[in-house]
Amino acid sequence: MPYAPLPFALETERLTLRLWQESDAEGYRRLVSEREGDHASRTSGGPEPDGEPMSLDAALDDIRGARETAPGRGIHLLAMHPRGTDEFLGYCGLVIGRSTIDEPELAYELLRSAHGRGYATEAAAAVVEAARATGRRRLWATVGSWNAPSFRVLDKLGFRRDRTVVEDEAGEVVWTVLDLA
Ligand SMILES: CC(C)(COP(=O)(O)OP(=O)(O)OC[C@H]1O[C@@H](n2cnc3c(N)ncnc32)[C@H](O)[C@@H]1OP(=O)(O)O)[C@@H](O)C(=O)NCCC(=O)NCCS
Repeated sequence: MPYAPLPFALETERLTLRLWQESDAEGYRRLVSEREGDHASRTSGGPEPDGEPMSLDAALDDIRGARETAPGRGIHLLAMHPRGTDEFLGYCGLVIGRSTIDEPELAYELLRSAHGRGYATEAAAAVVEAARATGRRRLWATVGSWNAPSFRVLDKLGFRRDRTVVEDEAGEVVWTVLDLA
């Protein structure tokens, strides 16, 4: 691979970003259930998700899978914690997503209790710098057109809107891009 691997740990002024650990499973499960509740309230007008909540075992399986596959791929999501604590806040990192390994997507998602404190911007700024250091020249982020907070995070990082597409599942999705070179 022509790129250096994304580090497995990053530090910011207030946050530690590090490879997922099994102790993140409960927080991760809560994050998924909040996401599904948000999705249900946007799409069906009700606050409750349709399916069963994620089990702790399923959360642990996802985390073990992420730990196994991360070293081979060179990009990954990192779990986010306030520095010096084990409190799970969410994650931030790089994924292939709708894009490519050469020009991956920036991704982030935080528990509701952690919103509004600048954490996503602080974590994502560190990931952008780490992505630049891997030798990549461009990053993307794809965002639902309804997601004003995420657009604001991307604005603060310098991403610009490139195009809008309509997908069957996700609806209107805006592709935003950041040139790193
Ligand atoms: C998007 C998300 C990660 C933002 O996390 P965060 O830590 O609250 O973000 P920050 O505090 O760094 O920045 C949020 C910015 O959006 C602004 N904002 C929040 N709600 C807003 C709204 N409804 N309209 C416009 N701006 C809004 C905030 O004021 C802040 O901007 P400011 O610093 O200029 O005041 C968080 O809302 C989240 O996890 N959402 C669910 C998952 C998700 O949507 N992930 C992104 C998928 S592309």
